[in-house]
Amino acid sequence: MLVKNCRLIIDGIEQIKDILIENEKIVSIEDEILKKDCGEIIDAEGRYVIPGVIDPHVHMRDPGLTHKEDFTTGSMACAKGGVTTFFDMPNTVPNTITKDNLLEKKKTHIGTSYVDYGFWFGGSKTDNHNEVKEIQNDVVATKVFMNVSTGNMLVEDEKVLENIFKSSKLVGVHAEGEMVQKAISISEKTNVPVYLCHLSTEKEIEYLREAKTKGLKVYGEVTPHHLFLNEKDVEKNPLLRMKPELKTERDNEALWEGILDGTIDTIGTDHAPHRIEEKIEKLTFGIPGVENSLEMMLKAVKCDKISFEKLIKIMSENTAKIFEIKNKGKIALGYDADLVIVDMTTEEIISKDDVISKCGWTPYAGFEKGGKIVTTIVRGNVVFNDGKFVNKIGKEVI
Ligand code: DOR
Ligand code: ZN
Ligand code: ZN
Repeated sequence: MLVKNCRLIIDGIEQIKDILIENEKIVSIEDEILKKDCGEIIDAEGRYVIPGVIDPHVHMRDPGLTHKEDFTTGSMACAKGGVTTFFDMPNTVPNTITKDNLLEKKKTHIGTSYVDYGFWFGGSKTDNHNEVKEIQNDVVATKVFMNVSTGNMLVEDEKVLENIFKSSKLVGVHAEGEMVQKAISISEKTNVPVYLCHLSTEKEIEYLREAKTKGLKVYGEVTPHHLFLNEKDVEKNPLLRMKPELKTERDNEALWEGILDGTIDTIGTDHAPHRIEEKIEKLTFGIPGVENSLEMMLKAVKCDKISFEKLIKIMSENTAKIFEIKNKGKIALGYDADLVIVDMTTEEIISKDDVISKCGWTPYAGFEKGGKIVTTIVRGNVVFNDGKFVNKIGKEVI
């Protein structure tokens, strides 16, 4: 495949280049590549071409809750949103907390995804650290819920938490408020890096900043909804309930500051689809995200809140590094050709009618897109183009 006239950001400078792809990898990036037998040719027409987004935090609901989402619809939502790799959370039914459940999940999802994926393994209150240890090479990281959330996977016992940390290469935590401090201290004690999911307050960012200053191996994620929405929006739209809940405008700003000064490492959507009927019938925490995360984050680029370079770091490059995903997260020689062509001149409005996710709604309806995702390419295969889904070629990452 040859992608022509790509507007790339190289060392902070915009340059128009052609990208040649062979055997799923980027093999050449030049001003002009003239090659005949290169297969499919795509003309980016001077539009921005950025590395495919890696979303480390999604709940695809498959198995067990596939009326909300399944692996295929969730992966379509990803492809439409410029997400070329996602990591699936373990609070499916059954929970992904045993080796058997993990292997079964892997087996059933082969050939069902449009984009690449990895799996989280869940730490369990029954102390499954032996299984955690055994499957370390088969998952991206271990997930532990240290606060109550959707899925009944809370682990409270300190000893169990320590055991799970000690058996992991990296632990992602759902921790809120003081629990963030606790997660950091267990990480320090066990010398196992911790990934703090969906930080949402100024205070939590301070905890992370302080831990980083101390030289600890800690990483922080924020969601687009905690950046763009706050408690005032919940008054207008009662569907906007999730864990952690939306906070204040001041917290929004503190999260942006955390991104700018490098305290925050990644953007993860916490894509947690629930159908509208379910949300209306009873208080249900979680909102969808993958479909609009890049479109929303590009708004911040458009209004100069963050640079394109920063966006690429927090949505792709840092994520690949933290989770040690080989050959992804960058447009560079030898890397997987995971590319997104975006149109930054768009004035399109995000609409509920365009939603692909089975949940059927989006928290961002009515927002103007910062950029429109024109084409999504996974390892040199077009998976989404001009509103159409092309190719279910997604496979598990190593
Ligand atoms: O709001 C949430 N929903 N927070 C979580 O931690 C889990 C998620 C879900 O799975 O619905
Ligand atoms: Zn969570
Ligand atoms: Zn989550």
